[in-house]
Amino acid sequence: MSYRIPFNRPCLAGNEYKYIAEAIANGHASGDGPFTRKCHELLEKELGAPRVLLTTSCTHALEMAGLLLDCGPEDEVILPSFTFVSTANAFALRGARLVFADIRPDTLNLDESRLESLITSKTKAIVVVHYAGVACEMDTILAIAFRHGIQVVEDNAHGLFSRYKGGYTGKFGCLATQSFHETKNFTCGEGGALVVNDVQLLERALVIREKGTNRSRYFRGEVDKYTWVDLGSSYLPSDLLAAFLYAQLEARVKIQEKRRQVWNRYYESLADWAQSNDVKLPVIPPECEQAHHMFYLLLPSIEHREWLITELKAQGILSVFHYSPLHLSEAGKKFAARASNCPVTEEISERLLRLPFYNDLSENEQESVTDAVKNFRLRRRAIA
Ligand SMILES: Cc1ncc(COP(=O)(O)O)c(C=O)c1O
Repeated sequence: MSYRIPFNRPCLAGNEYKYIAEAIANGHASGDGPFTRKCHELLEKELGAPRVLLTTSCTHALEMAGLLLDCGPEDEVILPSFTFVSTANAFALRGARLVFADIRPDTLNLDESRLESLITSKTKAIVVVHYAGVACEMDTILAIAFRHGIQVVEDNAHGLFSRYKGGYTGKFGCLATQSFHETKNFTCGEGGALVVNDVQLLERALVIREKGTNRSRYFRGEVDKYTWVDLGSSYLPSDLLAAFLYAQLEARVKIQEKRRQVWNRYYESLADWAQSNDVKLPVIPPECEQAHHMFYLLLPSIEHREWLITELKAQGILSVFHYSPLHLSEAGKKFAARASNCPVTEEISERLLRLPFYNDLSENEQESVTDAVKNFRLRRRAIA
């Protein structure tokens, strides 16, 4: 079915075709070519990160994190149950046991007040997800991790250029991962990045990203041939994708401003309706500058959500929900260290609905969405 207003529409920033043509003309279509270097430099400079490495996806950047931290069958990794499967898979692939944390009912981020109770002598890492590009309560999380000598990894798939107390997300953990998937603020279709904040992890990150070889040392002239030195895989994207991505990253201020406007229009248009219909809108704590990645509603019940999805669909508008709690999934149960207790996740995941959100969502299109939402009489449906 095609929708008048899709949930996501890939948007061009302007220079994508030009840069891809340049990348083809450069004759370097494989990884780590001139455009990959440009993306690396831009992200390192902007974030102030020691090193950023483009990857084929955020999923793969997370897998690199699992390898880099040497997670294995004796280890436990704490992560929110309310996240995409990749956050969990990356560590389950290494044989680590997963400990699912519940989320806060306001930001839907990992509930730091219950974090310490999940830590055992086996805990190797805490993986936080800055849901919707709104930062987790990092001061508390980092203090707990430090006290117990545990590494923190940030799954920042939603949050590039968002801030917590003035500092960029993706700069707090020893490692952070970014996504450039089609649905994200900046995209190249499929892509990601690993932010390496702990420089001690850098040399091995380069090896893992290059199929477990010391090829980067060879390119730096430090060895006369390269060879297999560690586990690894092919985690570097084609320079053609980097060319596309560079066009997007270069337009970051314009893109973020467009998304800020979309987010604010949703909020302003729906605030009164939400209040009088027992619907919750996203909460942005004052210490967080969000990435304006998505706009969601928390409806009173799963039935209300089904009704609204159906109503919007009838008007050619696609709204979607996510995530199914990982701790209740087949694989989540298989790879969990022990029984999980995540009541907020279970409750929230039934009520959350995401509205269409993309850079070029026009004011008219957005008004159609908000009109359709506001015309939907939640109260009456509830009583009927
Ligand atoms: C929180 C989170 N982590 C990781 C991913 C995986 O990203 P990618 O599609 O770039 O592998 C997603 C995908 O949307 C996500 O939402």
